[in-house]
Amino acid sequence: MEKHWIKSPRSEKYFGAIRFAKNFQVGDCVSSAKVRVSSVGLYELQINDQKVGNRVLTPGFTSYNMRGIQYQEYDITEYLSDENTVCITVAPGWAVGYIGYAHNKEIYADHVSACAVFTVTYQNGTAETFSTDSSWAVYTHPVTHADIYNGETIDKTHIPQFLGAAEPDAVPYRLIPDIGEPICEQESFKAVLLTTPKGEKVLDFGQNMTGYVALKIQGERGRKVRLSFGEVLDRDGNFYNENYRTSKNEVVYILSGEADDFKPAFSFQGFRYVRIDEYPFAQIDAEAFTAIVVHSELKRIGNFECGNQKINQLYHNIIWGQKSNYLDIPTDCPQRDERLGWTGDAQVFCRTAGTNYDVKKFFDKWLSDLRAEQGADGAVYGTCPEGPGMSTRAHTRTSAAWADAATIIPWTLYQLYGDQKILSDNYDMMCRWVEYMHAAGTEEYLWLGGWHYGDWLALDAGADSYQGITSTDLIASAFFAYSTQLVIQAGEVLGKDVSPYRALHQNVLSAFRKAYLEDILSYDFDAHENVDPLGGKMTQTAMVLILQFGLCTEDEKERILSHLVKLIDYFGGKMSTGFVGTPYIMHALSQNGRADVAYKLLFNEAPPSWLYSVNKGATTMWEHWNGIKEDGTFWSADMNSFNHYAYGSIGDWLYSVAAGIKIDEPGYKKVTLAPQPDERLGYVKSSVKTPYGPLLSSWAYVDDAIKYKFIIPEGTTATIILPDGRALQNCTGEIRL
Ligand code: BGC
Repeated sequence: MEKHWIKSPRSEKYFGAIRFAKNFQVGDCVSSAKVRVSSVGLYELQINDQKVGNRVLTPGFTSYNMRGIQYQEYDITEYLSDENTVCITVAPGWAVGYIGYAHNKEIYADHVSACAVFTVTYQNGTAETFSTDSSWAVYTHPVTHADIYNGETIDKTHIPQFLGAAEPDAVPYRLIPDIGEPICEQESFKAVLLTTPKGEKVLDFGQNMTGYVALKIQGERGRKVRLSFGEVLDRDGNFYNENYRTSKNEVVYILSGEADDFKPAFSFQGFRYVRIDEYPFAQIDAEAFTAIVVHSELKRIGNFECGNQKINQLYHNIIWGQKSNYLDIPTDCPQRDERLGWTGDAQVFCRTAGTNYDVKKFFDKWLSDLRAEQGADGAVYGTCPEGPGMSTRAHTRTSAAWADAATIIPWTLYQLYGDQKILSDNYDMMCRWVEYMHAAGTEEYLWLGGWHYGDWLALDAGADSYQGITSTDLIASAFFAYSTQLVIQAGEVLGKDVSPYRALHQNVLSAFRKAYLEDILSYDFDAHENVDPLGGKMTQTAMVLILQFGLCTEDEKERILSHLVKLIDYFGGKMSTGFVGTPYIMHALSQNGRADVAYKLLFNEAPPSWLYSVNKGATTMWEHWNGIKEDGTFWSADMNSFNHYAYGSIGDWLYSVAAGIKIDEPGYKKVTLAPQPDERLGYVKSSVKTPYGPLLSSWAYVDDAIKYKFIIPEGTTATIILPDGRALQNCTGEIRL
């Protein structure tokens, strides 16, 4: 297929779309017809003015240079007549438009290209094929500007110009089958129209989301509708989007004079609010605007509800954080000049994501890219895909907790779905990442030095720091131990010889003990007036990692736990954890007998806490604990997304502790159902569609008692453990207690 790439014959740059077109006839008695199609840039395929299929933003985002560009295959039998016009419209997209930290465009190519192979099969068994070649014509297109970060202009007055016959193109990238989930339009929202104190006209769609805004309108030819996008209003109720940084997100619709239907096809925006900056009439018809949500099509498998509306809103925000950021790759955020596959964010949210939705295929695709981009030395980078020049060097460095996506995600997916292939596909990457860490540190069994994101956005370092105070050396060495442990576990499942990793793990544990644990264990809170952080060793995140990654003995756990509880007290009864500590802190408490403290954190309403953003009206997860400060001002414009799923990792705790659904054998073959009820939740009802069928765990405070109901699928064995000590072994079917 690669030899069929075509491009425009003209060398001038198009920041919008161009269209490749061809007329063709088919004979009588077609039995079936299909096409394989792809592009450098984003394509939309039309036959006889009808869009083929329901996918958008094709061919998707992969590691174009290291793995290849996906092609899609469509059955086009129903689209064909005797005489046909086929058009492939291509716009810059991820490959040619702006993408990445370094504010560069043309990361993968300096122009768009298209490629397609059509096969028409007749009832008599014969078949004919034709492909993109120099018999195709090239035209300009009414989408005169389209860019992932900067938005889209659709000019319905545009008269397409013939640019000449297509020329063959030599695209250096492989074409690969599409193995992910299709990106499709999902649901839609209507808006209410607000007039802000500044007099701006703003549509409020009521939900922060990823997608675009469609408009039906008829007005004077050449008049414009110009839209800006934002996630929140400022404290005075005015439109705000400085947090989008350099990403302009401007959508312009230019009217034809007839009844127009507008909708972007080559960009997407992250938004709840839309400011109407230009409009052809004095009165705005809010009804004419529809927000369309776009994300990868994933099957919903998990649900959680309870009797506390704030926690339900938190859960809603977790789900919407995922919907907004699972757009072909797991992105950090959908609105500013990033929208990148940040490995750390993907890693911390993976377990929650994989309980909410079936994300196996979605991650099969992304892990294929992660493997393809792993360095020869085992290095795993901060983002994936990571095209050349997409980020400044400083941001692509291997960082502990980010690069550990290479071990944590495969292991997590194996736990959730029970498919050993996930491990066999990724085992080599997992081992090589551990080898990288082994070689990287300035000491053999500790990862000291190097540059790390650290406990990103933790608030213990003070107001304006991006990194918490936990020692990055401690974090790096803790993840070195943990990833080695995961390699051992994965290797055991696959029947590999893991003895070298066992020895390595023991050595890392001993080195960690000497470097960190001894000081931590002997720390005496009474000897200090304020906590001495011991150079970043005495922090909540450090205690959490020690407990969760098995870095101390069983006997020592109690002391580390008591340190953790004291550190929470010192921090005003709140968390001081960032991206690294937060996913584990609740588990570290509840697994060690302090579910009471975990619940205290859950119900905390002052920042940093989950309910703080809920109280501030969030409809998605925030990147920063205090993205909007208590006085209503913003934390900063720089690192302040209101749609960042990382702290949504609390979802896993809601499923596995509040509802008590714990996986003992991969794929829910064996589970423990051990809910830890709390009266403030009133009731919990949580279900997961496991590979064996639907599983339900629920409880409710009724009068003075707690009533439980469990449904266990056939093929799953469950141990039920209740807080009052009741235990039931090997349960199946429906159980009421
Ligand atoms: C991203 C994060 C990411 C981080 C690296 C940010 O700009 O939005 O979510 O993990 O950089 O520390």
